[in-house]
Amino acid sequence: MKSVLLATLFLLLIQIQKSTPSCRKRRLKPNIIVIIGDDVGHNDFSLHGSNQIPTPNIDALGYNGIVLDRYYVQNSCTPSRAAFLTGNYPIRSGLQGVPIVAGTNRSLPVDMPIMPQFLKKLGYKTHIVGKWHLGSNYRSRTPTERGFDTHFGYWNGFLGYFDYFTDFNNTKVEGFDLHDGFETVWRDMGQYATNLFTRKALEVIDNHDTRNPLFLMVTHLAAHAGRDGVELGVPNRTLTDLKYSYIQNPRRRLFADVVNLLDDSVGQIVQRLLHRNMLENSIVLFFSDNGAPTVGPYANSGSNWPLRGIKLTNFEGAIRGTGVIFSPLLKKRRYVNSKFIHVSDWLPTLYAAAGGNVRDLGHIDGVNQWNTLSQDAPSPRSEILVNIDEVENTTSIITHNGRYKVLTGAFLNGTKDSYFGESGRGTEVPPYNITRVIHSDTNQAIQKITNAPITEHQIVFTRAQVDLAWCRNANYTPFLNCSNACLFDLEKDPCETTNIIDEQPDLGRLLLRRIEEFSVFLVPQGNLTVDPDSNPQRFGNTWCTWLDDSWCVKTPNNTNLTPNNVNI
Ligand SMILES: *[C@@H]1O[C@H](CO)[C@@H](O)[C@H](O)[C@H]1NC(C)=O
Ligand SMILES: *[C@@H]1O[C@H](CO)[C@@H](O)[C@H](O)[C@H]1NC(C)=O
Ligand SMILES: *[C@@H]1O[C@H](CO)[C@@H](O)[C@H](O)[C@H]1NC(C)=O
Ligand SMILES: *[C@@H]1O[C@H](CO)[C@@H](O)[C@H](O)[C@H]1NC(C)=O
Ligand SMILES: *[C@@H]1O[C@H](CO)[C@@H](O)[C@H](O)[C@H]1NC(C)=O
Ligand SMILES: *[C@@H]1O[C@H](CO)[C@@H](O)[C@H](O)[C@H]1NC(C)=O
Ligand SMILES: *[C@@H]1O[C@H](CO)[C@@H](O)[C@H](O)[C@H]1NC(C)=O
Ligand SMILES: *[C@@H]1O[C@H](CO)[C@@H](O)[C@H](O)[C@H]1NC(C)=O
Ligand SMILES: *[C@@H]1O[C@H](CO)[C@@H](O)[C@H](O)[C@H]1NC(C)=O
Repeated sequence: MKSVLLATLFLLLIQIQKSTPSCRKRRLKPNIIVIIGDDVGHNDFSLHGSNQIPTPNIDALGYNGIVLDRYYVQNSCTPSRAAFLTGNYPIRSGLQGVPIVAGTNRSLPVDMPIMPQFLKKLGYKTHIVGKWHLGSNYRSRTPTERGFDTHFGYWNGFLGYFDYFTDFNNTKVEGFDLHDGFETVWRDMGQYATNLFTRKALEVIDNHDTRNPLFLMVTHLAAHAGRDGVELGVPNRTLTDLKYSYIQNPRRRLFADVVNLLDDSVGQIVQRLLHRNMLENSIVLFFSDNGAPTVGPYANSGSNWPLRGIKLTNFEGAIRGTGVIFSPLLKKRRYVNSKFIHVSDWLPTLYAAAGGNVRDLGHIDGVNQWNTLSQDAPSPRSEILVNIDEVENTTSIITHNGRYKVLTGAFLNGTKDSYFGESGRGTEVPPYNITRVIHSDTNQAIQKITNAPITEHQIVFTRAQVDLAWCRNANYTPFLNCSNACLFDLEKDPCETTNIIDEQPDLGRLLLRRIEEFSVFLVPQGNLTVDPDSNPQRFGNTWCTWLDDSWCVKTPNNTNLTPNNVNI
């Protein structure tokens, strides 16, 4: 009798527990949406002060959220994405140096757990749409074997904007590289990549069961050079030339539209989050993986003006990243954050925001920056190892909370170490259209949940704070020989105009010693030669996981399926 009574009481207590408001209001973990642009430079976003390429949606994400001013990425695609997903400097995974070339036996080591694997343990559904570029030599190295529930997109570094073909070893042999998990999706050939990836991202949001938290990465092809490493694909070239007639360089006109369409994608994704009532509990992060390759291989005519250097160098033009983040969960919003943040910090930062204990992540280079962002608190980070590339023989580190930077060596004999790219500040360029920012999809969606309209003054003020137009002083040296070492004071001289190593030799030596301390952790880059067995002709003209090819199509030399025979 007593026990029955006790049991009844117990059940009653559970009922009360269930209906208490604190329990019902328990917040679901935030959705995490990360959108990454490819090879888009500092000066290719209108929020940094150039009016040449309008990016109203990305700008509005920053104006309503946070614009990151001292946000550092790696100098190219593979290393940046590796650092983002692992929380580690790329030297620890052997992915420093040149990005993975299609058909080389390289990939993110499987014993290094990555962001979607950690988030899954917290209950997240995990999806990636677009580029992977962290290896596809074995099945086990592809996204759906690395913690993503789904992947729609491509495994290699770039492909055609319409035909989704990537070449083999810079030959005319090409392979189709569009996959849905392990299915090759020929049916989508001919669709414009930015629109296709956006549509797939919207499908993920539409089909998401909102009882679970969502982790969605959208890693666009835009604005990497496409087919043959040259194409800058747009849906309608006549329209593009019309829209950007004030830009002289015809390639930059194409590039402008590619970037503007990438910006549209961001707006559509934010709108869809609103429609599914997910935006109020989301973190939306946008960044570009690295600076633009203005000239040289895979040049896209993007611009890192006024910063020095381009993609693959260790100068600020390659690594001082563009990043904006919005979330209603950020306590402080609508400001420029100038704290020292590195791309490897997102893993612990987002994991902490998701309620995880960062100790679960083990020993990593990244640090939790959630309070740095949410409260503009001091950054727990004092230095960033920019890179050590044992093949190119280049090194760089930034120390003293972001103040001093040392570089050694010269990428491509220093030919990319000067200043490139358009300022976009000529009188022929139309003024910044603030109405367009206010009417943008992003801004409209965010206003619906914050009920606090952003003002013209706030926009102008934010934009002025992150405009670096002042930093290229009159007597700068276009060419610097950093073979031995260059030292810069980035606070005074973010444009790296003046090498101060002769004035401060002791400081220079201190920084170089710090690089030495990191070099013991370096995992070599491995074999950079293209493996003939990866030849797409062996797999019906598709890219397959050639070192583990039991599942691959084995139809050799299917010449009916080469891009030249595709009607697009
Ligand atoms: C590919 O690389 C792995 C090491 O990551 C090595 O064990 C394997 O032998 C290599 N395979 C070929 C075919 O080179
Ligand atoms: C491309 O844009 C031009 C200019 O707006 C327009 O006249 C033309 O019909 C468009 N072409 C296509 C195929 O949509
Ligand atoms: C590197 O550049 C210097 C100066 O421009 C030139 O003298 C030298 O021949 C170049 N070296 C190579 C390997 O291209
Ligand atoms: C500015 O943008 C608004 C909204 O998109 C548009 O209606 C207007 O024509 C634009 N103004 C100029 C001068 O381009
Ligand atoms: C840069 O300096 C190094 C060492 O002083 C020298 O060997 C090299 O030729 C120089 N490079 C250029 C491009 O001037
Ligand atoms: C690498 O660079 C360092 C200093 O920049 C130089 O002392 C060394 O000789 C270089 N090594 C090679 C293999 O080029
Ligand atoms: C590097 O890879 C190429 C292509 O697969 C192969 O021929 C060569 O033997 C490899 N080299 C080493 C040192 O493993
Ligand atoms: C790749 O191209 C290089 C340079 O043209 C050539 O030496 C090499 O044999 C090619 N490798 C394959 C696997 O075709
Ligand atoms: C495919 O074609 C290439 C050259 O066109 C040839 O060398 C190769 O042997 C062919 N492969 C097969 C499996 O037929």
